Amino acid sequence: MDRLKGKIAIITGAGSGMGRATAIKFAQEGAKVVVADIAVDKAEAVVAEIKAAGGEAVACQADIAKSEDCQKMVDTAVKAFGGLNVLYNNAALPQKEIEFQNCSDEEFERIMRVNVQGAFMACKAAYPEFLKAGGGVFLATASLGAIMPRGKSIAYSPSKAAIICMYKVLASELAKDNIRANVILPGPTASPMLKQFMAGDRATMSDEEIANAVSASMPFGRCVEPTDVADAAVFLASDEARMITGETLLVDGGRSVARGRD
Ligand SMILES: NC(=O)c1ccc[n+]([C@@H]2O[C@H](COP(=O)([O-])OP(=O)(O)OC[C@H]3O[C@@H](n4cnc5c(N)ncnc54)[C@H](O)[C@@H]3O)[C@@H](O)[C@H]2O)c1
Repeated sequence: MDRLKGKIAIITGAGSGMGRATAIKFAQEGAKVVVADIAVDKAEAVVAEIKAAGGEAVACQADIAKSEDCQKMVDTAVKAFGGLNVLYNNAALPQKEIEFQNCSDEEFERIMRVNVQGAFMACKAAYPEFLKAGGGVFLATASLGAIMPRGKSIAYSPSKAAIICMYKVLASELAKDNIRANVILPGPTASPMLKQFMAGDRATMSDEEIANAVSASMPFGRCVEPTDVADAAVFLASDEARMITGETLLVDGGRSVARGRD
């Protein structure tokens, strides 16, 4: 219950899916959590849930594509809790399946802006607080698609590969400051985002129908659940992972080793 006791964490995209599950689990493990999301109503609902269970959290409306909002998240952590120990760059934009030549320059740029530059700007804003704290942890959510990309994801998959590389750079550069940087690579996860990758007939299916269809191709017969990712994030944020940095952790239920099945 106390694996993150005393730690102050920002989680982006924490109003839904994996971010929400991780915010709840971090708080259960004793962390004080800034629940950051572009959709403030969703962030506030998660904060209410955490507080009702006796945890500590504060909501922050932030679009990570804006550097001033990245700074706002850090200021919120400092004001509410007195510092910062963990930044989890989890928010991202999905990309509906699209032939690469039909992806507009604007769509490509927007996905890179949020998924890659947003993470960079948030890390930059957090860094001074990590230095004051004598160290810190950068986490990010990339994707199985970063290392086993499918077609029709010309902006999304490269954006996730860029995060892996960015975090290896950070791990290499910042060990001197006692800062670790690790990336979680989920497989298909039962969250509202799953449907947003689908085009054509599949786009009209319900969340449950899509999760069921994808589950059929998963080795354990089910999608990844947001709580599966949250458990991995707790470990990587905790001192149990003190000697782990520059690492990627697949949370895909073995999909990568069984890719021949789909
Ligand atoms: N769902 C999947 O199958 C899957 C698989 C692999 C990786 N991922 C990655 O996992 C992460 C979490 O996705 P999820 O499935 O929990 O999605 P989700 O849609 O449930 O949640 C994403 C949250 O991010 C917020 N958000 C979007 N743009 C934002 C911005 N600019 N600034 C701040 N917040 C913003 C949304 O409001 C939403 O609450 C993402 O990085 C996603 O790319 C998802």
